[in-house]
Amino acid sequence: MAESAELILDGKSYSLPVIEGTEREKAFDIGKLRDQTGYVTLDSGYKNTGATKSAITFLDGEEGILRYRGYPIEQLAEKSSFIEVAYLLIYGKLPTEAELQNFSNQITKHTLVHEDVRKIFDGFPSAAHPMAILSSLICSLTAFYPESVSPDLSKEEIDLNVIRLMAKISTIAAWTYKNNMGHPLNYPRNDLDYCSNFLYMMFSFPTEKYDIDPRIVSALNKLLILHADHEQNCSTSTVRLVGSANASLYGSVSAGINALWGPLHGGANQEVLEMLQAIQKDGGDTSKFIAKAKDKNDSFRLMGFGHRVYKNFDPRAKIIKKAADEVLAALGIDDPLLKIAQELEQAALTDQYFIERKLYPNVDFYSGIIYRAIGIPTEMFTVMFALGRLPGWIAQWKEMRENKEPIGRPRQIYTGETERDYTPIEQRS
Ligand code: SDX
Repeated sequence: MAESAELILDGKSYSLPVIEGTEREKAFDIGKLRDQTGYVTLDSGYKNTGATKSAITFLDGEEGILRYRGYPIEQLAEKSSFIEVAYLLIYGKLPTEAELQNFSNQITKHTLVHEDVRKIFDGFPSAAHPMAILSSLICSLTAFYPESVSPDLSKEEIDLNVIRLMAKISTIAAWTYKNNMGHPLNYPRNDLDYCSNFLYMMFSFPTEKYDIDPRIVSALNKLLILHADHEQNCSTSTVRLVGSANASLYGSVSAGINALWGPLHGGANQEVLEMLQAIQKDGGDTSKFIAKAKDKNDSFRLMGFGHRVYKNFDPRAKIIKKAADEVLAALGIDDPLLKIAQELEQAALTDQYFIERKLYPNVDFYSGIIYRAIGIPTEMFTVMFALGRLPGWIAQWKEMRENKEPIGRPRQIYTGETERDYTPIEQRS
């Protein structure tokens, strides 16, 4: 039913149309507010502001619900594969057998990168953080495929850029690791599925046979699915904002990678592991670190806890926590960091400070335990987050383009100096 909200300003009444989403979320449409009233709204961090309408992902932070194109994350993590979920997010439906086979084959065919990409690696310091290399090399695809910058790409051209990006990010990500380790780079193998190929490129050596462990392939599929999209989070909003200026998909995703690297966002998974290691090194007294997290005079935060929208358990954290137990048991690993994480969680969930602020473990809290168990080094954790989040970034960029959304340009409230005349330098103090 069409609703509106009444706004009374300076004695005048204005009607703001109310829009309602398919999950009963409601918003005031303020698209004409400034023209009608001269006012803008202010909402730093956009905690209360919807930037767009989207049909891709629905989450309910209070209920701990997350669905991709209507499918509950719990079912997709259990029954689907990362490439199938990527297709679902990007094209809006679960693929038929033939569509999935074609999508997967196309990606396989494009996993090779231009030989000049290898030369760019030689320019990076060997200790460069993999996220710095990843964002640079993903942006460099714009140089190798200059036609990708056109704002008038056909559906087929956009699909080709999607395939290239999905395919090449896994090779580039694996190469950042091998480059960092001083190992020979591995070329992709077309006989392997996406996750097996990634593990092969990451961990195989030309000197010996590499056996792919299906249990690790399954864990990796699940982790990438759980990271694949999360509506208008910081990095996705970055991709949409950059893309709204008609920047290329590669340039927009490269910007998203840099946003994700932030320790308050995707960079938290690396910070969690380093925090657990610091607690272990300090003797394992979790209560000392809980106290630090609560101390307003201490900048320490319990990394992997809290969330901008989840004020309940992050549904992804529940699944990852269970998967961490399963993977470590299957691989016969007894990781003391897992026990420290479980102790922290228990302590925080019974502590008023965390309860009052609704701070629960988020997606980053347990993911590093699994990455560590499958041999992925801490500095590569956020690269893994980017690998998983890529289909979501692509889907959101594509939706923004298809909906012909205008260039993003927020307003502000100016709080600086009012007009004043230029002061000659000899009169300045
Ligand atoms: C991701 O948006 C997404 O969807 C992101 C993501 C995705 O999939 O894309 O889910 C991925 O980024 C997960 C979040 C990973 N980040 C971390 O784990 C870093 C640690 N967490 C925080 O810094 C924090 O919780 C945020 C940034 C995640 C959310 O911050 P908010 O919602 O802006 O909350 P806030 O900073 O305003 O804090 C509210 C209160 C404050 O205390 P008071 O001033 O009210 O006394 O809670 C406290 C904060 O000090 N608080 C914490 C805390 N997080 C918030 N105190 C201790 N430890 C923490 N982790």
